[in-house]
Amino acid sequence: MHSSKPSVSISFFFLGIAVCFLIVVIIVFVLLRFFKAELLLKMRQYNDSTQGGNYLSSDLHAITLFDFQTLKKATNGFNEKNKLGSGGFGPVYQGVLDDGRVIAVKQLSVGKSKQGEPQFLAEVKMITNIQHKNLVRLIGCCSEGSQRLLVYEYMENKSLDSIIYGDNETVLSWSTRFQIIIGVARGLQYLHEDSHSRIIHRDIKASNILLDGKFQPKIGDFGLAKFFPEDQAYLSTTVAGTLGYTAPEYAIRGELSEKADIYSYGVLVLEIISCRKNTDLALPSEQQYLPEYAWRLYKKSKLIDLVDEKLKTDGNFTETDVLHVCHIALLCLQPEPNLRPAMSEVVGMLVSKTEPTNIFEKPAFLNRRSSPINSGASSENIIASEHPSSPSLSISVLQNDPANAPPPSDHCET
Ligand SMILES: Nc1ncnc2c1ncn2[C@@H]1O[C@H](COP(=O)(O)OP(=O)(O)O)[C@@H](O)[C@H]1O
Ligand SMILES: [Mg+2]
Repeated sequence: MHSSKPSVSISFFFLGIAVCFLIVVIIVFVLLRFFKAELLLKMRQYNDSTQGGNYLSSDLHAITLFDFQTLKKATNGFNEKNKLGSGGFGPVYQGVLDDGRVIAVKQLSVGKSKQGEPQFLAEVKMITNIQHKNLVRLIGCCSEGSQRLLVYEYMENKSLDSIIYGDNETVLSWSTRFQIIIGVARGLQYLHEDSHSRIIHRDIKASNILLDGKFQPKIGDFGLAKFFPEDQAYLSTTVAGTLGYTAPEYAIRGELSEKADIYSYGVLVLEIISCRKNTDLALPSEQQYLPEYAWRLYKKSKLIDLVDEKLKTDGNFTETDVLHVCHIALLCLQPEPNLRPAMSEVVGMLVSKTEPTNIFEKPAFLNRRSSPINSGASSENIIASEHPSSPSLSISVLQNDPANAPPPSDHCET
C-alpha cells in the first residue's frame, strides 16, 4: 500500500508537467498566429496609406492595393475638374499620389459588375501581368465595400480621339501617325498572340488609344470585359456609340474572335489617316460611313483623297506609304473574318512595306437604321433594346453589294 503512493504522485507530477507544456504550446501557437495577422495588417495599412500596398501574391507581379481614402485624396475627392471622361465601364479621374506619381483612376460602375472581391482581384492580377510597351500599365486597384477602382499610369497626351477629331490644334505628322498605327498593331499582336492569356480587346477605338509624352501609343481598357457579364460587355459596346468600330459578325451574332478586334483596327487606321470619325452624318451622303467611303475611293483609284487637309498641308509623306497603309486597313475590314489578316501579319506588312496580295471585297459595315434596307444589299437586323436608357437600336449590315450600287444613305433613316 505504502509503496504505490509515491509512484502515483510521480505519475501525477509528470502528467501535470505534460498538461502545462501542452497549454504553453497552445498559447504560444495562438499568440503567434494573432501577432502575425496583426503584423501583416499593420504592414498593409502602412503601405496603403503611403502609396498603395502589395497584396501578397505568388504570381509574377503582385497587385498593388490602394485604399479608397488614398485615391479620394489623389483625385480631390473625385472632383468633376479631375474627370478625364466617362465610358461604358464608369468615369475616369486624373489624380496625383503623395509620392508625386500622376495616375488615372477608373471607377468601375459596380451596378453592372456582379463580381465578388476574390474574382475581382484575380482579374486584376491577370491584367497586371500583361505588360507591353504598347499597352497602358495597370498600377493597382482598390476594392473596398462596393467600390471597385482601377489605377492606371497617366498618359500625358490623353487619347487619340481628342487629337484626331477634337478641337485640338495638334496636327499629327505622317511619321507620328505611322508610329501610332504600328504601335497599336504591336500592342494588339501581343494581346492576341504573345501574352500568356489570349485577350480579345473588344473595344478598340480612338478613345482607347492613349498617347504618352512622345506620342507613343498605348492601348487602354484591355481585359475590362472580364469584370462584367458577357452579354453586358457586348451590349455596352454597341450601345455606347462605338458601333462603327464593331465587326458585323460580333454585333449581329455575338461571334467573338480576334478578328473582331482586327476589324476595329481597320476602322481606326482609316480614322487616323482621314482625321475623322468613322460615322459622320453631317457629311455628304457618300462620305458618311468611312469604310464605305474608302472603298468608293479605292474603286476609283482615288484612295489618296482620304488623307485629311492638315496632313496634305504638312505634305511630309509619300503617297505610296499612305496607300500601303490604306490597303492594309481595307484587308482588316473584309466581311469574312477569315479573310482578315492576323495581327502579326499586319505588323509584318507594315514593317516590311509588303503589299497585301489578296483581292479585296467591299468592307462590311454597320449602319443605324429604323427601317429595312433596300433589296440591293444583304442584311440582317437586330434590336438591342435591353438598355432602358437607350432608344431601341436597329443595326443593319451591308456587304458585298456591287460598288456601283446607290449609297446606303440614299435609303437609310437614322
Ligand atoms: N490612363 C489614362 N491617361 C490619360 N487619360 C486617360 C487614361 N485613361 C482614360 N483616359 C481618358 O479618359 C477618357 C474616358 O475613358 P473611358 O472611361 O475608358 O471611356 P472611353 O474609352 O469610352 O472614352 C478617355 O477618353 C481618355 O481621354
Ligand atoms: Mg477607355
